[in-house]
Parts: sequence; structure tokens; C-alpha cells
Amino acid sequence: MQHQALPGFRDLYPPDTALKNHIINTWREVARTYGFEEYDGPPLESLNLYTEKSGDEIVDQLYAFTDKGGRAVALRPEMTPTLARMVAARAPALKKPIRWFAIPQLFRYERQQRGRFREHHQFNLDVIGEVSPLADAEVIAVAIDSLHELGLGENDFRVLVSDRSVVKSLLLAARVSEEQLGSAYAAMDKVHREKTANLHSFLLKAGMQKTVANKVLDIATVRGLTDVSNAIERAGGDTAATKNLSECVEALDAMGLGGMIDVDCSVVRGLAYYTGIVFELFDSSKSLRAICGGGRYDGLLKVLGGVDLPAVGFGMGDVVVGELLKERGLVPFEGMGLDVFVVGVTPEDVPEVMRLARSLRGLGLSVEYPLRSQALGKQMKLGAARKARTAIIIGPEERSDGKVVVRILATGSEERVELSKLTKEYLRPD
Ligand code: HAM
Repeated sequence: MQHQALPGFRDLYPPDTALKNHIINTWREVARTYGFEEYDGPPLESLNLYTEKSGDEIVDQLYAFTDKGGRAVALRPEMTPTLARMVAARAPALKKPIRWFAIPQLFRYERQQRGRFREHHQFNLDVIGEVSPLADAEVIAVAIDSLHELGLGENDFRVLVSDRSVVKSLLLAARVSEEQLGSAYAAMDKVHREKTANLHSFLLKAGMQKTVANKVLDIATVRGLTDVSNAIERAGGDTAATKNLSECVEALDAMGLGGMIDVDCSVVRGLAYYTGIVFELFDSSKSLRAICGGGRYDGLLKVLGGVDLPAVGFGMGDVVVGELLKERGLVPFEGMGLDVFVVGVTPEDVPEVMRLARSLRGLGLSVEYPLRSQALGKQMKLGAARKARTAIIIGPEERSDGKVVVRILATGSEERVELSKLTKEYLRPD
């Protein structure tokens, strides 16, 4: 019987793992340059951490079960509730604003499709305890720079930004009731993916009049700060409502990132806890799901931990980023590439091969040797397959002279050198 990974779960072979690590290392490095500290939490949490505020979509996708102690638990589908719980537990002792990031593995029982699995790693970065839109701009800048650092540029992705409180006031002015807001957001979230007729009938089913449903879909088409202000004015609202959004966009402008930003009212986000600015990053052709999504969630810490702290952050998945890097030819390496492959000419040379390999590893070089005594030709083939830069050949003659032969595999050039010449600089120039 052959076993396979469960649907939606990935077997990460070494090249896949190398790509994942490249993405994760880059995220970590960019977070560090912005002064964020890393945290982590448990992969299994109480079920009610998610049922309280994350919203129906994510609750439907939970891997939930009762543990042996009779507790209702769930594998974490997102990090934000864990973060809110952890910060709330120690809030008085933590210097605000808190700037934290994590790279957890998350689990969602989703329908598998391109860029969407049932497990993924997600870069989560949040600022807690700061109401200023400069905090929103700061996290958006990290999201942009982490993609820049991976080699993705202006032509590869866009940042769509909106403000849920602005959209909410437009919806209320269009006579959407408080109870219907969730359905309105759900429909707006799908305007780019779903046929208008389907969204329309979804809104009618949610109890809206035809004209109200039309207005909801119209609001989703509003683009640009000026049009957002005009829409608010037409609806009889206060145009000062766009103040946060304008300040956030201006701050990104000041950082030289304004060219990447589109104000777009169709961005409302699927999760229920967002209260203010929301944003999503998409590949330019929008052929993949969102690369990154986030926003302001000023009420979540209060609900989950009884501490009233404003918060803003994002999640960025390794799957979508990996797809995009592959699509753009930005996967930077093929396999590991050894520094040195050590070979022995006769079985008697094997102990010296092992001694030398260990001492070179002590210098920080990556070194391998065949795990059995073999003909020299076979050993050299294995060294080439391992993409070793050099082969070090030890035979009886070399052993008696205290020397070795160093061969550069790419050129075939050889040199007979004293053991003392085998420094890191010599074996790994540049
Ligand atoms: P989210 O939009 O659910 O937000 O997920 C963020 C990103 O994670 C998505 O844009 C996508 O790249 C990736 N992602 C999500 N689900 C999957 C999946 N099934 N397969 C592959 N990639 C996936 C959140 O989770 C929020 N908690 C983010 C946040 C942090 N908001 C504030 N702070």
C-alpha cells in the first residue's frame, strides 16, 4: 500500500524547502531592519479563540476536534487571535507601540487550488498600541519591502488600500442595515472573482432591496481618494472620514512607495475583526490569490483579552509568494552546492578522508565524502552530482607526503598542495 500526503498538504522536497527558507529568511531580515521582534505561540488553541471574532468563513475552515481532556480545540488557522491573547495577557508590562512578528504554520480546511493549500507558513507582522495611520503605513511598507527584497518590483505587484469605516458609512448611507453589513462586505470582497448577477442575487437573499444591492456593488467600484471623498459627500457623510486613509497614503508617498498604492473600495477583507484601514497585495495580473492581506483591528484585544489596545498588521503566505517567484524566474538557487567533496584513492585512505573532512567542516565549509570505499571514477561522479566546487583527492602518496590534490570540478584544473594550505579562503574564494 502506497501512502500519500493528505489533500492540500505539501511534501516539501529539498528544492521546495530551500525556496521556503529563502522566503522566510528574507521576511525575517526585512522585519529586523524595521525593528520588529519575533514571537511564537502554540499551534493548537481553544476553539473559542476563533469562534468569537474571526468570522464564519474561517470558522468553517477550522481543523477542530475534542482533545483527550475533553477540550474543544483547533489547529491555528491564523495568528492574529493568538497574538491578541498573548499581548493582552502581559499588556501593562509591554512598551507601546509593540512591534512584533511571527512566521507560524497555519491550517485551514480550504478547497485546494493554485496558491491555496490546507497548510501554509505566514509572515505576520503587527503594531499594537498605536492609533496613528503612520502605523498602518509602516506595516504596509514592510509588506512592500519584503517583496522588493525577494526581487519583485513595481511591475510585479500592486497594493490595494481601503478603509472599512469609510466603506461602512457609505453602506449605511445606502440603506444597508447593520445586520446586512457582513453580507455586503462578503459580496464586495468577491467583485473581481464572481459574476455581478450572482453577487446581486446573494445580496437579495440577504434581504436587501434591488436598489440597495446595486448601490453596494457600485460602492465596490469606487477608486482613488478623490472619488472616495466625492462618494461620501454625495451620500451626505462627513468627508473627514477619509482622514486616516489620506494620511496613510501620504506617509507611503513620503517613503517613496506611493506609486505602488491604489485606493480601491472593493478591498474589505474576509475576516470579521477589521475596523479601519484594510489592504491587500496582488500580483499585477491578479492571476493568483492575494499575496498579503491585513488591516486595522482596534477591537480584537478587548474582545479576546479585555485590554483596549488599537492594532494593525498583515499576513503574507509563503505559497503565493513562492508561486510568484517561480513565475518570474526569481528562484535564486538550484540545490545546495558543496564546497568540498573528499575522495580516497584506496580503502586505506578512508580514515584520512574522514579526518580531513571533519577538520574542514570545523572551518565552516560544507563537506561530504562517499560513505563507502569505491572506484575513484564513481566517487568523482558523486562529487559532480553534489555540485561540489572542489574535490580533494587523497592517495597513499599524498598521505606519506602530507599533501593532497585539489581539483576545481568546473575546469578540471588540479594543484598538489600542503595540508596547511587548506584554509577557508583557499577552498571558498570570494
Ligand atoms: P488572510 O487574508 O486570511 O489574513 O491571510 C493572509 C495571507 O495568507 C493571504 O493573503 C495568503 O497569501 C495567505 N493564505 C491564507 N490562506 C492560505 C491558504 N489556504 N493557502 C495558502 N496561503 C494562504 C490573515 O490571516 C490575518 N490574520 C492577517 C493579519 C495579521 N491581519 C492583521 N494581522
